[in-house]
Amino acid sequence: MKPIEGVEEVLISEEELQDICKKLGAQISKDYEGKNLLLVSVLKGAVVFMSDLLKNIECDCKIDFMAVSSYSGTKTTGVVKFKKDLDLDPDGCDILIVEDILDSGITLSYLKKVLADRNAKSIKICTLLDKPANRKADIKADYVGKVIPDAFVIGYGLDYNEHYRNLPFVGVLSPKYY
Ligand code: IMP
Ligand code: MG
Repeated sequence: MKPIEGVEEVLISEEELQDICKKLGAQISKDYEGKNLLLVSVLKGAVVFMSDLLKNIECDCKIDFMAVSSYSGTKTTGVVKFKKDLDLDPDGCDILIVEDILDSGITLSYLKKVLADRNAKSIKICTLLDKPANRKADIKADYVGKVIPDAFVIGYGLDYNEHYRNLPFVGVLSPKYY
């Protein structure tokens, strides 16, 4: 692979990402068999993970999308902006929020709060990446792909100012770039 400007190192390869999706998909398929699973992906960062995970889920499910943002460059503003609500009514569903990364936790605790009064049967969280070093909100994911060190990561849906989402791996953004 030729070097990509701004990528300091590959943190999670394409192969490892596929393995992670297979493992999480198998566990979720087992846990949600016979339930009313609604996968809720958080735009835009989680779309690539959502589509790979979805292909590994064997039980019946529905999908929907929400959009929020709280980032400016590599820093969270701490204020979550609500941009798009669900299309489906989650009444009676077992919601599994599918997120790209759990960092400060502010976004996911906000989303859990927003979804809490929609009469869902259960609400759980599946995150591809968990970066515990920066946690500010008291929140834990129920399914975690990989715990990562405190670095700004890009690729596989994750962006820096809307760039790099198309990289097939998760890489560390060189600090020279921010
Ligand atoms: P939190 O609210 O701080 O937990 O951040 C959650 C959101 O911030 C994620 O859904 C990402 O969109 C974004 N984010 C956090 N850390 C990173 C990173 O290292 N790279 C790219 N986006 C990130
Ligand atoms: Mg996100």
